[in-house]
Amino acid sequence: MNIGIDRLSFYTSNYFVDLKTLAKARSVDPDKYYVGIGQEKMGIPPPDEDVVTLAASAAYPLMQDGELDDVELFLFATESGIDQSKAAGIYVHGLLEMKRRCRCVELKQACYSGTAGLQLAIGFVARNPGKKALVIASDIARYELRSPGEATQGCGAVAMVISANPRLLSIEPECGYYTEDVMDFWRPNYRLEALVDGKYSTMVYIHTLLESWKQYAEQSGRSLVDFDRFCYHIPFTKMAEKAHQKLAHKLKVSVGKEEMLALLEESLRYSRIMGNCYAGAMYIGLASLLETAEEDLASKRVGFYSYGSGCVGEFFSGIVQPGYREFLYADQHRNLLANRTELTYQQYEDIFNYGVPTDGGSYVFPQYKTGPFRFSGISQHKREYETLTS
Ligand code: HMG
Repeated sequence: MNIGIDRLSFYTSNYFVDLKTLAKARSVDPDKYYVGIGQEKMGIPPPDEDVVTLAASAAYPLMQDGELDDVELFLFATESGIDQSKAAGIYVHGLLEMKRRCRCVELKQACYSGTAGLQLAIGFVARNPGKKALVIASDIARYELRSPGEATQGCGAVAMVISANPRLLSIEPECGYYTEDVMDFWRPNYRLEALVDGKYSTMVYIHTLLESWKQYAEQSGRSLVDFDRFCYHIPFTKMAEKAHQKLAHKLKVSVGKEEMLALLEESLRYSRIMGNCYAGAMYIGLASLLETAEEDLASKRVGFYSYGSGCVGEFFSGIVQPGYREFLYADQHRNLLANRTELTYQQYEDIFNYGVPTDGGSYVFPQYKTGPFRFSGISQHKREYETLTS
C-alpha cells in the first residue's frame, strides 16, 4: 500500500524584512546574506501571530476542502511551544472545528519533529488505511538581535494530510536515521531566543547527513544517480547546497554547480524569501519544488534530508504522484508570498521586542494583517484567539 502526503498547504506571516535593510543596520555587506548564506528576506511574525495561528491558517484551506474530515490523528511539531503542558495543536483543533474523535499530541526535536510526525503518521495510516492523519510543523525562528543567526530568522507552518494512496507524494519504506547527543543549537525553557554554536552546527548537520545516507543506501541499494531532485532541511539555502556537495564528494560523484542547482534550486526558492521555518523548513522546500518546477515531476524520486539540532537526522525518499499538480495550493502560496508587507528596521525591532505579557493581566494585542485567525490577547495566563472569517 502506498502511503504519503496527500495534500500540503503552508502559511507564513504577512510581514518581512529585506536582508539589505538588516545588512545596513548591521554595517555588513548585503552580499554576505544574499550570496554568502543565500537568503534575501526573513518572515517576521507580528505580535498577534504565534505557532497556533500560523498552523491554523496553514491548515485552513484543507479544512475548507473537507480534507480534515477523516483525520483521527493530529501531530503538531514545533520547537516554539507556547505551553509546557497543553499541546498547541489542541487550540488548532478547536479553531478548525475538527471532530472530537482525534488523537492530538505535540512533538519536539528541533527541526526534525516534522519528519518524526510524518513517519509516525505513516505508521498510523498503515494500521488504519481508511483514516487520515494531519501533521502540522509550525515554528518561529528567533535569534538574538545582532547575533550571527539573526539573518536566518523566519516563520511559517506547513500542514500535511497523510493518507493511503496519496495524491502528492508516496513515501518509500527505506530510511536512515541517526541520533547523537550534541550541543550545536538549543533553547533552554527560560529563554525566548535560541543559543547556537553556528559553525559547529553546520558541521554536525553534514556529519549527520553522511551517517543517515549510509544507512539509507545500505537498506535501499540506491545511489545518488537514482534521484531526480533533493529536498534538504533549509536553515539557510547555502547550507543545503553545501551539504549536497559534501555528500556527493564523499560518494565520489562529480556534481558541477549547474547540475547541483538543477537538483536543488527549485526546492530553495520559497525559503530564500521566507527564512528558516525550523520544523517546517524541509516541507516548505517540498512545496517550493512541487509548485515552482516547470518540469512535470510525476513519478520522479525525491531524496529528503531532515535535520534537527541536538541532534537527530533522517534520510528518506518519496515518489511524486501522477496528477499531483491538480492538488497543490500553488496560487494561494504565490499570492501570500507576493503580497507581504516590508518592515523598516525600526518596525522590525519594535515587533521583535513586543513580548507576550506574563503577569496574568488582561491584554488585547494590536491588530496586524494575519490569516483567518489571530492571537488576539491574553487574560489570566490564557491565550485568546479570534477567528476572522465569517
Ligand atoms: P557567520 O559566521 O556570521 O557568517 O554566520 P560567515 O562569516 O561564515 O559568512 C557566511 C558565508 O558568507 C561565508 O561563506 C562567507 O565567506 C560568506 P562560506 O565560507 O561558509 O562558504 N560571505 C560573503 N559572500 C559574499 N559576499 C560577501 C560575503 N561576506 C561573507 N561580502 C552562521 C554563519 C551559519 C554561523 C550563522 O548564520 C548562524 O549561526 N546560523 C544559525 C545556525 C544555523 O543555521 N546552522 C545550520 C545548521 S544547524 C540546523 O540546520 C538546525 C537549525 O535549523 C535549528 C534546529 O534544528 O532547530 C538551525
